[in-house]
Amino acid sequence: MIDLPQLLDQTAIQDAQWLKTVGSTNTYLLNFDCESIHLPLLVGTESQNQGRGRGSHQWWSGTGSLPFSILLAPAHWEIPPTRWPILSLVTGLAVCRALKMLSHVGTFQVKWPNDVYANGRKICGILIEAHPVHTDQLVIGIGLNVNNSLAEAPTELQHKAIALCDLLGTPLNTTEVLITLVNSLDEQLRELGPDSRRWHQEFRQNCYVSGKMITVRNVSGEVTGTCMGIDEDGALKLLTEQGVERILAGEILIA
Ligand code: BTN
Repeated sequence: MIDLPQLLDQTAIQDAQWLKTVGSTNTYLLNFDCESIHLPLLVGTESQNQGRGRGSHQWWSGTGSLPFSILLAPAHWEIPPTRWPILSLVTGLAVCRALKMLSHVGTFQVKWPNDVYANGRKICGILIEAHPVHTDQLVIGIGLNVNNSLAEAPTELQHKAIALCDLLGTPLNTTEVLITLVNSLDEQLRELGPDSRRWHQEFRQNCYVSGKMITVRNVSGEVTGTCMGIDEDGALKLLTEQGVERILAGEILIA
């Protein structure tokens, strides 16, 4: 269980709810009547049974994981809509920073466009969605594997995913993890407002696929090449047989 008074006391979150169970914290906030509430509003849950990922992907939240979403107005950090497309990468960097604070072991990297990897395995997924009515607001959904150890999971899954407790060999205090994540996100957003280039430099140092041969699936099919990092708009740069291709949206299939 999360200590909500501590969360409200130690972060910029203005209102928070912790639900016993919910379909999806993102869906909950997208349908939330937010006329008279103070933002940022955080909603998390013990058990999410219809968690969503990008596209048609589902997000499984095992017991001990940390699924939550924050409804916020990017203008509060002076972030214009033109920079919204990079928010998923910036959130990934915020998660990496937080994980480095929480764990003295492990290598944390962002896998374009919305995953965080620890020691080459997925530890966190991010889903950012625009509010359908209040078009100046976004929902940032974060699913982090914290105390949902994958030690007992099928070997195939163990190779793909990891939890923070597996890295550290001990369970963590989820309130402290959540506070560290939220403060790290606040810090990243504050930096992004005035300076759109700094995050790009940080991304270069934390990019999971840079230099790797990868295949990306996007609307026009699949494209394979060596990842040359990303540009300042957040587009992935791939060196293919035809030259360098810029990919604005898609999914990495092999990395
Ligand atoms: C992905 O891997 O494609 C993104 C997964 C995002 C999962 C989080 S968990 C909290 C929030 N609620 C959801 O339904 N999804 C996000």
